[in-house]
Amino acid sequence: MKKAATLITILAVLAFVGSALATTPDKTTEYAGGPMGKVVFDGKTHADAGNKCMDCHPKLFPMKAGVTKVTMPHNDGELCHACHTGEEGKPSKTCTSCHKK
Ligand code: HEC
Ligand code: HEC
Ligand code: HEC
Repeated sequence: MKKAATLITILAVLAFVGSALATTPDKTTEYAGGPMGKVVFDGKTHADAGNKCMDCHPKLFPMKAGVTKVTMPHNDGELCHACHTGEEGKPSKTCTSCHKK
């Protein structure tokens, strides 16, 4: 009995850790994007590009979808534009790299 309870606890913890780690790399968040067209944030693209959880959480974004409001102006150093500055070696800040009609 005791063994089974321990095992269940371990499995529950593993399931929790697994789902937490799987969340953004597996997910896309879609923003309506206003007149410029919708924006899709792809967790997998970002994980594959070598970004770590702590590059974004909790400094730039809370771990909860749909909370952050991204509005104009998109200042360098803020939210998506903390990285998307268009500088050498940095991801693009061209409008159409994020906004798709
Ligand atoms: C490049 C930036 C970036 C990286 C790296 C990143 N995330 Fe996220 N994550 C986001 C954004 C943006 C959101 C949506 C936040 C919002 O809408 O306010 C988000 C949302 C989440 C959510 C909430 C999802 C939901 O449906 O509510 C969780 C959980 C999460 N991230 C966990 C992680 C974990 C764990 C890692 C590392 C394996 C990670 N994130 C890496 C940017 C990132
Ligand atoms: C921690 C840094 C970081 C943050 C924050 C970040 N990105 Fe990125 N993003 C990257 C990197 C690195 C790439 C890969 C760039 C490449 O391959 O040229 C990328 C790629 C992309 C691409 C693909 C671009 C293309 O040209 O194909 C899109 C779209 C994108 N990001 C949208 C977003 C959005 C929307 C947000 C905010 C919700 C965001 N990113 C926040 C680092 C970041
Ligand atoms: C790195 C990704 C990224 C890039 C590059 C980007 N945007 Fe955005 N933009 C977003 C996200 C995410 C939102 C939030 C959309 C939502 O909440 O529906 C947004 C929202 C907007 C909005 C609606 C909100 C508001 O304040 O009116 C406008 C307009 C906008 N962007 C214009 C632009 C223009 C113009 C450019 C090029 C100079 C640009 N964006 C480049 C990610 C980006």
